[in-house]
Amino acid sequence: MSSQDQYGDIANADLANKGVVRIEWAEREMPVLRGIRERFSEDKPLAGVKILACLHVTTETANLILTLKDGGAEIRLCASNPLSTQDDVAAAMLHVYDVPTWAISGESTETYSRHLAEAIAFGPNITVDDGADLVALLHTDRRDLLTNLIGGTEETTTGITRDKALENEGNLEFPIIGVNDASTKHFFDNRYGTGQSTLDGIIRATNILIAGKTIVVCGYGWCGKGVAMRAQGLGANVIVTEVQPVPALEAVMDGYRVMPIEAAAALGDIFITVTGNRDVITPDAFVHMKDGAILANSGHFDVEVDVKSLREMSELVRDLRPFVQEYVMPDGRGLVVLTEGRAVNLGAAEGHPASVMDMSFANQALAAEYLVNQHQTLENLIYPVPSEIDSEIAMLKLTSMKVSIDRLSEQQEEYLSSWQVGTE
Ligand code: ADE
Repeated sequence: MSSQDQYGDIANADLANKGVVRIEWAEREMPVLRGIRERFSEDKPLAGVKILACLHVTTETANLILTLKDGGAEIRLCASNPLSTQDDVAAAMLHVYDVPTWAISGESTETYSRHLAEAIAFGPNITVDDGADLVALLHTDRRDLLTNLIGGTEETTTGITRDKALENEGNLEFPIIGVNDASTKHFFDNRYGTGQSTLDGIIRATNILIAGKTIVVCGYGWCGKGVAMRAQGLGANVIVTEVQPVPALEAVMDGYRVMPIEAAAALGDIFITVTGNRDVITPDAFVHMKDGAILANSGHFDVEVDVKSLREMSELVRDLRPFVQEYVMPDGRGLVVLTEGRAVNLGAAEGHPASVMDMSFANQALAAEYLVNQHQTLENLIYPVPSEIDSEIAMLKLTSMKVSIDRLSEQQEEYLSSWQVGTE
C-alpha cells in the first residue's frame, strides 16, 4: 500500500508503529540532541520558521526532525538518497508525528526528483541538505523560492564541495552553514560512523569474513581513515589509493600500503570507494580484478564505481543476495557490486549509529537556531559552525559519557595568552 497525499509520499503506513519504537531506541543513544530538544520545546527558537530537510530518512534523522519540530518549526522531510530510506521511519514521521514526508526505499530517480519538487513547494526559509540537492534545485528550477530563504545547512563533504563551487562562481544565493566541517561532526561521524557502518553494510550484505582479506580503500579523507582503521581492526590487509600527496603520506605512515588503483586492482578482494569523486574504479581496473572481487561505495553519490561501464562489459548480471549483484565478464570472471554502487552503509546497513549522529545532528539543530538569530549578519557565503557551538557539543557529549576533563588554571590561561615568557 502506498500512502500518497498532498502531505507526502511513503511506502506503507502500517509500518508506523514499528518506526516509533525504533526511533525511540535511537533516541536513547542521542543524549546531546535530547537535551537540545528539551530546551527547544520550552523556548521555541524556531517558531514559525519553515524548514525543509533533505536527509537520509533514518531513526537518527527522525530525532533531529522532532527536535526542530518541537523548536516550533514548520518542518517537511524528503529523502536524500533513493536507497537509504527506512520505510517504517517514513511512515512514523508522516502518520504518527504529522511531519509531511516524501521518502520510499528503492524509489526511482524520477520519484526521487518528484519528491524533492513536491516537498520544496511550500517555500522553505531554511534548507537542511545532505548532498546539496535542495541548494541545486533552488539555484535552478525553483529560483522563484529563493526570496524565502534565510539560509541553509549542509551535512556532508560532497554537499559542501558542491556549495563551494557555487560560492566560487559568485552565484550562491543564501548563506550556508557547513555542518560537515565542525570538529564534532567530521572527526566522529565521517571517521567512526563511516568506518563502522561501511563494514557493517558489507558484512550484512555478504556475510563474508573480513580477516585475511585484502581490502582496497580508495580515498584517505576522514571517511577513508575510518574505513581503513576498522577494516584493519577486523584483520584485513589494507591498501590505500589516493590522488593527494599529504593524505597518501599519512596512509603510508599509518602503516598501509599505498599504490595506484591499477596496481591495487589485481590484489584486492574487496574495494571500497570513499573519495567523493567520480570514476574512481573504471574499466582500467575491472580488467585486472580477481574473480569474485567485491566492489562497494561508501561515498555520497553512486558515481565512484563505474557500474554503467561494468554492465556494458559483462555478459550476464545476476542477483546473488539482496543488495548483491554479480557482473559476469566474457572471460568468466564475476565482479560483485553491492547496493548498485550506492552508499553501502546506508543501503545495506542503517547508516551511522545513533551515538555519532547525536553530535552531527546537535550541530544541525544549533546551526538552524544560529541561522534564525544571525541571518541578518550573514552574507551569501559558506560559514563554519561557530567554534563555541562545536566545543559545547563536545562537552555535552563527554558529560553524557560521564567523562570529566581538566580545567586551565589562571596561570595557565595567562601563559597561553602572553608572548613575553620564552626560554629561561
Ligand atoms: N548519514 C550517515 N548515517 C546516517 C544516519 N544514520 N542517519 C542520517 N544520515 C546519515
